[in-house]
Parts: sequence; structure tokens; C-alpha cells
Amino acid sequence: MNTSQDIVILAVESSCDDTAAAVIKNGKILANIVAGQDVHKKYGGVVPELASRSHQENIVPVVDAALKEAGINKNDLSSVAVTQGPGLLGSLLVGISFTKALSLSLGVPLIGINHLNAHVSAHYIDDPKPTFPYLCLLVSGGHTRILKVSSETEMETIGETLDDAAGEAFDKSAKLLGLDYPGGPLVDKFAKQGDAHKFTFNTSGVGEYNYSFSGLKTSILYFLRDSIKKDENFVEKNMVDLCASIQKTIVDYLLKKLILAAEENGIRDIALAGGVSANSELRSKLAEEGKLRNWNTFIPKFEYCTDNAAMIAMAAHYKYLNREFSGQNMKPYAREEV
Ligand code: KG4
Ligand code: ZN
Repeated sequence: MNTSQDIVILAVESSCDDTAAAVIKNGKILANIVAGQDVHKKYGGVVPELASRSHQENIVPVVDAALKEAGINKNDLSSVAVTQGPGLLGSLLVGISFTKALSLSLGVPLIGINHLNAHVSAHYIDDPKPTFPYLCLLVSGGHTRILKVSSETEMETIGETLDDAAGEAFDKSAKLLGLDYPGGPLVDKFAKQGDAHKFTFNTSGVGEYNYSFSGLKTSILYFLRDSIKKDENFVEKNMVDLCASIQKTIVDYLLKKLILAAEENGIRDIALAGGVSANSELRSKLAEEGKLRNWNTFIPKFEYCTDNAAMIAMAAHYKYLNREFSGQNMKPYAREEV
């Protein structure tokens, strides 16, 4: 156990298909290791059973690599943190069982972390940091919400998707175009060479700061079905323009609600978080809108946008300061309780 004044935390993330470990010392990230899982590619989506099995194979080498890179001995740790949920139960259990055992054997407290709140904590890793209260558009593979963040540990959801997440909208559209999973980064890549005004797709008009992406998928599906009837090579011939047009539809829709929320709440510090904030169009459009509206905009470094353990470590640091520890009876949760 760490007997010095330093706060040194090892954090593990295994909620979906990335096995990740990070080490944080006094609020500064010393190591951030991620092992992805290619095994899902050929299935067009994450296969939960295969994900848990890969986590089991990866977790020891990934944790070892993080400790080594940080130059930290496990006996120097003050605490061990882990993603508690939301996520795939089998995958979460791998990280939770591992960290429970480690915390017990080292005699240090365990800290359970909410994965979604941790995406927001990515903003506290580097400077400059947003000023409270700020709005954070959290866009990941499983969630899309607008959060009003009032402190490092407190936030309120003021808008969210009623069906698919933004990442799912990217991935499902990509699947319709015959692209591999996860399709979001590929759509982003092809869109760079395409004409975003070539095709228009519909988004649903749901109220307030909420989103709905299921209509977009249907709109793309019907459009492709009709177009392929006329030309069986339609998708191949128009791939880059399709990607650019789909990306523009999703990004414009995301920003429309974010702008409304910013204006109605009188907030000018605006942040992005989650895997989809790696999208180049979303990043540049946010910067553009921010300039127009005199916003201070914040986007985490690329490696802190997609799933990683540095954000879990950062969230754990604040929980450690508040002495918010979890017991050995901590359980994973697939969804947040409502
Ligand atoms: O936050 P994240 O890594 O995992 C979850 O917690 O879900 O987000 C993964 C999502 C996937 O849907 C992936 O397609 C999307 O983020 N994504 C992107 C890009 N990079 C990752 N979507 C669009 N453009 C990108 N460059
Ligand atoms: Zn995530």
C-alpha cells in the first residue's frame, strides 16, 4: 500500500470491446494503454461472448504494460478503479473481478466509475479546462446526450436520444453501405473526398434538446434500395458522396440541438466527449460555430475521445478526493438506473 501523500490510482476499462488500463498520480496521467479487439470485425458488430473472452486474455498484459510505462510498482498504488457500467455485463465483470482481487490483495480501496461520466472527465486531463457550468455533448457508440456539467463530479442530462446513439447512426449507415464495423471512422475517412450536398436525408423532429436517429437509418435504407434498383453499382460509384452527405446530416443535427441548449441556458463553454467526438467534421463544425457565437470550445485529445482508461482514472481521482469508495460487493450494471 502507498504510505506517502501521493494519490496513485490504477484504472481499468472493459465495458465494451477495448481492454484499457491507465495510471494517474496526483491528477496527472502517467500511462494510458488500450488493446482493441479485431475479432468483432467479421461479425459487423460487437459479439459479447467474444468480447469477454478477449478481455480475459488482454487484461493482465494491459495492466502490466500500464504499470511499467508509468514506472509504478503495484505496491505504490493508493487505490484501484474500474468501470462499473453501463456496458456489456460479461465484459464489465472481467474488469470488476480483476480489480476487486487486486484491491483486496493490496489492501487499497476500490472505486467504481460510471463510464459516461468518465467520458466527460476526459476534459480534466489537459489544459485548458472548461469553466463550470458548461455543456458537454456526449456522443458515443451507445449514448447521445447533452449534459449540463456543474462540477468535476456533478452533471445533469438536459437532452438525449430517444432511440439510436449518434455512433450507432454512423455504424448502421456504414453497414448499409457495406463498410466494416465500426463504420464511423470509415465514413469520416471517405467523407473527406465527397460532396456533402449531393444527397439529403431526413432526421426526426423530436422536441427540446432530444434526438432521434432511427428515422435517418430508414431514410438511408429506402433511398439506397430505390437507387440500387436503377443502378446496381450505385453505392460503389457514390461511396464518398454518400459518406459525406450522411456525415453532414448527423453532424448538423447534433449541433442544431447543442446550439439551442447553449442559447437557452446562456452557456458559452461548450465541450464534446465520447467516441464520435473523434469525427473530423464534428470537430471542425463545432470550432466554426464556436467562433461565430463567441463560445469557448473544448475537445479532448483523440486518444481520450474513444474508449480509454485515462478518463476512468481521472474520474477516479476526484472520487478518491471525496472518499467515495465501493465495497467488494460492487456489481456491474448494463444500463444506468432511471
Ligand atoms: O465512446 P466510444 O469509443 O465507445 C462507446 O462507449 O460506445 O464510441 C465508439 C463509437 C462508434 O460508434 C464509432 O463508430 C464512433 O464512436 N466513432 C466515430 C469516429 N471514431 C469513432 N464516428 C464517426 N467518426 C469518427 N471519426
Ligand atoms: Zn465510451
